[in-house]
Amino acid sequence: MNQTTLEELNQKFAIRDRLLFKAGPGGLTIAEIRHPGGEATVALHGGHVLAFRPHGQQPVLWLSRQARFETGGPIRGGIPVCWPWFADHPSDKAKPAHGFVRTTVWTVSAAETLADGSTRLKLSTADREETMKLWPHPFQLAIAVTVSDALRVGLTATNTGSEPFDCSGALHSYFNISAPANTRIKGLAEVAYLDKVDRMRRKLQDGDVSIDGETDRIYLDTTGACVIEDIGWQRRIDIAKTGSRTTVVWNPWVDKAAAMKDFGDDEYQTMVCVETANAHPDVVRLAPGESHTLEAVIRSGSMD
Ligand code: BG6
Repeated sequence: MNQTTLEELNQKFAIRDRLLFKAGPGGLTIAEIRHPGGEATVALHGGHVLAFRPHGQQPVLWLSRQARFETGGPIRGGIPVCWPWFADHPSDKAKPAHGFVRTTVWTVSAAETLADGSTRLKLSTADREETMKLWPHPFQLAIAVTVSDALRVGLTATNTGSEPFDCSGALHSYFNISAPANTRIKGLAEVAYLDKVDRMRRKLQDGDVSIDGETDRIYLDTTGACVIEDIGWQRRIDIAKTGSRTTVVWNPWVDKAAAMKDFGDDEYQTMVCVETANAHPDVVRLAPGESHTLEAVIRSGSMD
């Protein structure tokens, strides 16, 4: 459901030469954000960043050619927002994986040009009858997407109720790479992780992360930045973060890719997820009135 018509959105929030609302894939409402340093596309569906490309570079975010753009469904690629739980619901697997806000249509709350010239779009969503059935807590969630030659995505959760609640989540970022064989992820050496493809065994990362098979790892107690080095494209993607003590690395590889309808069979060769998360032991407890911001800052440039 659209908050309002495209015309009304543009009247209220468009910024000349910088930000325009349009009908995007599947008729979903998107904002196209342009800046001399880079451009991004954000869908109101899910508060989802679909694309980011610094000027003159390849796309930084990966989007599946089989992604579905349907009301009520998740979108494969870009930056899905997982909240208020990460992966399966802790006690009820019948509830939607990765929470419910990635399939909710968010509301535009602001669009502005900041003092440094970057363009920022803010969207929000809050509890309503359907969410209270899935998760019985009043909340307010805001996402701020700031575009320049870098992409800054900040997700702020606020407890608007009268009881504390626990939440987890992720900026489930999919990155575009030339090939896993060309790619190393730096920043996780010596970090302990839970290996989801090996019965959640706890392991220690030995050196950089390389992807040569199904990979689904929850790196624990890690607040540092990661760098994806891609020797195929001579490109590095830097992912700095705040408000997160978990980094998740995911590539479904052959069998899982083939099993997913919204993921091309060979596309595992072109992506890796490095997710800025609060997950598993890293749960955020919010007292009434309290807020927490999970933020990722993504930049890319040449490797030298
Ligand atoms: C990752 C999880 O974050 O997301 C994986 O660690 C999961 O276990 C993947 O398979 C994709 O999830 P979904 O619900 O978007 O298919």
